[in-house]
Amino acid sequence: MLPVYLETFGCQMNELDSELVHGQLTALGYRFVDTPEHAAVILYNTCSVREQAEQKAYSRIGIISARKRAGERLILGVIGCMAERDGIDLFRRHPQVDLMCGPGELDRLPQLIDNVRRTQQAQNAEFAEPLAIADRTALAGNRSRRSTTLSAAQDDLESLDLSRAFDPGARGAKKYSAYVRITRGCNKFCTYCVVPNTRGAEIHRPPDHIVDECKRLVDAGVLEITLLGQTVNHYRYQHGSALTVAGREAPQVGPGLSAFRTAPRAGVRCTTFADLLRRIHEELPALKRLRFITSYPRDFGNDILTVLRDSPRICRYLHAPAQSGSDRILRLMNRGYTVGEYLDFANRATSMLPDLCLAGDFIVGFPSETDADFQETCALVKRLPFKNNFIFKYSPRPGTAAFDRLKDDVPDAVKRFRNNQLLAIQSEVSRATHASWIGKRVEVLFDEVREMQKLKTPAPTTQLTIEGAESFRNQTPESNRSLRSVQCIGRTPGDLIFSMECDSLQIAAAFVGKTAYVDITSASPLFLTGTLTGSNLASSH
Ligand code: 5AD
Ligand code: SF4
Repeated sequence: MLPVYLETFGCQMNELDSELVHGQLTALGYRFVDTPEHAAVILYNTCSVREQAEQKAYSRIGIISARKRAGERLILGVIGCMAERDGIDLFRRHPQVDLMCGPGELDRLPQLIDNVRRTQQAQNAEFAEPLAIADRTALAGNRSRRSTTLSAAQDDLESLDLSRAFDPGARGAKKYSAYVRITRGCNKFCTYCVVPNTRGAEIHRPPDHIVDECKRLVDAGVLEITLLGQTVNHYRYQHGSALTVAGREAPQVGPGLSAFRTAPRAGVRCTTFADLLRRIHEELPALKRLRFITSYPRDFGNDILTVLRDSPRICRYLHAPAQSGSDRILRLMNRGYTVGEYLDFANRATSMLPDLCLAGDFIVGFPSETDADFQETCALVKRLPFKNNFIFKYSPRPGTAAFDRLKDDVPDAVKRFRNNQLLAIQSEVSRATHASWIGKRVEVLFDEVREMQKLKTPAPTTQLTIEGAESFRNQTPESNRSLRSVQCIGRTPGDLIFSMECDSLQIAAAFVGKTAYVDITSASPLFLTGTLTGSNLASSH
C-alpha cells in the first residue's frame, strides 16, 4: 500500500483528472495521504495556462527534489499540462523528476509508476540499468495531437472516465457535486492559449457513456453534476459515423465550426448539446442540479436556451468568457466573435432566462492593448449583469501563436493597474447583481461549513477559484475582526454563494448535502445572506 500524495493545480478539468487518477490508483492498492511528508509517491497535476501556475508547481518540484538529493527514496511525477508542454526537457532541467504523463495519457500512469518502482528496487539491489525515458514518459506529443478518427475511437482515456470510482467518500468534501467530462481538448486555437497543444484535439464522448456516468453518480448520492468541456456548447455527436469499439459507440473528433452554421445533413442523426442536456434532465429525475462549463459565446443557439427554460433542474448559470471588450483585441485573440455578437448572445440569454446568472473571464494587457481598448473592456463589464468575472493579466505562453507573433509589450505595472481597475468595476457590478436578489426566495445547496473570524460585515467565503485569478478575498482589515463564527455555505442554482450563520458546528454540518429554500435579506459583491423559510430541508441525502 504505497502512500501517494497528489496535488492539483489549475482548472476543473484538472480536478476531474485528479479524481480519476485517485480512483485508478486506489483500485490498484495505492493509499492517498494528505501531506507530501508521508508519501512515497508524489504527483503534481499541473496547469500551463498561465506562467504563475507553472512557477508554483516548479517550486513544489524544487522542494521534493531537495529531499531526494538528501537521500529520501521517493517517486516524483509531473502529470498534466506542464508535462505535455515541457516534454522531456523537464527531465533535463529537473533530473529528480522520475516520471511525466500528459493529460491525454493518464490511463498509462499506473504503468509508469510501476516501471519507476521496479527500477528503484533493482537499483537497490545494484544490478539495474537506468530506466529509459520512454518507460517513464507518456505524452501525446504536441504535433501528433490525437486528432484522427481512428485514434479518437481507440482513445484509451475513455476507459479512464468509464472506470471512475463511484465512491462518494473518494471525492472528499465535494461528495454531493461531481464533474462529468463531455468533450476533451479544444480546436479553437485562441492565440494566447496552450490548451489545444496540451490537451489535444476536440474529442466528443458518446452520449450513452455520459448518461451512464451521470446515472451512476446519482445512484452514489451526487446531487449536482457539472458537465465539462472547453467549449461545452460545441458538443455534437454524430451517430452511425464513428468507429465502434466492441459494438458500442466510441469517442469521435468534434465537427468543424461549419457544423454550427448549417443544419445536420438529411438522414444524419446527431446528439447536439441541447439534446444531451434534455436527455440527462429527463433520464435522471433524481439529479437535483445540472450545470455546465465553459460556454463559448459564439454558436450558443436558442435550442440550448429553450432546454434551459423548460428544464427546472438545469441551472440558469452561464460561464461564458468574453476575454476582451475591444473588437481589435478579440480579433488578435482569434476569438471568432465581436463585442456586438457577445452582447447579442448575452442579451438573448438574459431575456429568455430572466433569472440567469452570467459569469466569465477577461484578459488584460494582451499584446498591443491600448488604454482605449481597455476602456472598451470596462464598458462591456459595466453593461452586463455579470455575477463575477475572473480577470487575468496576459501571460505569454511558449507554443502559442501570440507568443510567436505578438510582442508582450504592455508593461507589467500597466497590466496590474488595469487588472485592479477592472476588479473594482466588477466588484460594483457584482454588488448590484447580488443586490437584485434581495427579497427573492431561492433554493440553496449547502456544501461546506466554515469556522471563521466574526466580522462586522460577514466574511466573503468560497469563490470558484482558478489559479492566478485575482479575487476580492482576504481584504478584511484586522480592526474588523472579533469573535469566531460558524457559517454554512451553499450555492444558488445561479452559482451565487449563500452564507448562513449557525449556532454551532453540529448545526451547520447538518445542512451539508441538503437543499433548502431561503429568503435573501442582504447581499455583498461576493455573496448573499438570508433566512431559512421555515424548517424546509427540501432534500436529504
Ligand atoms: N494569459 C492570461 N490568461 C489566460 N487565460 C488563458 N490563457 C491565458 C494567458 N496566456 C485565461 C482565459 C481563459 C482562462 C481559463 O484563463 O481568460 O478563459
Ligand atoms: Fe483555450 Fe480558446 Fe480553447 Fe478556451 S476556446 S480552451 S481559451 S483555445
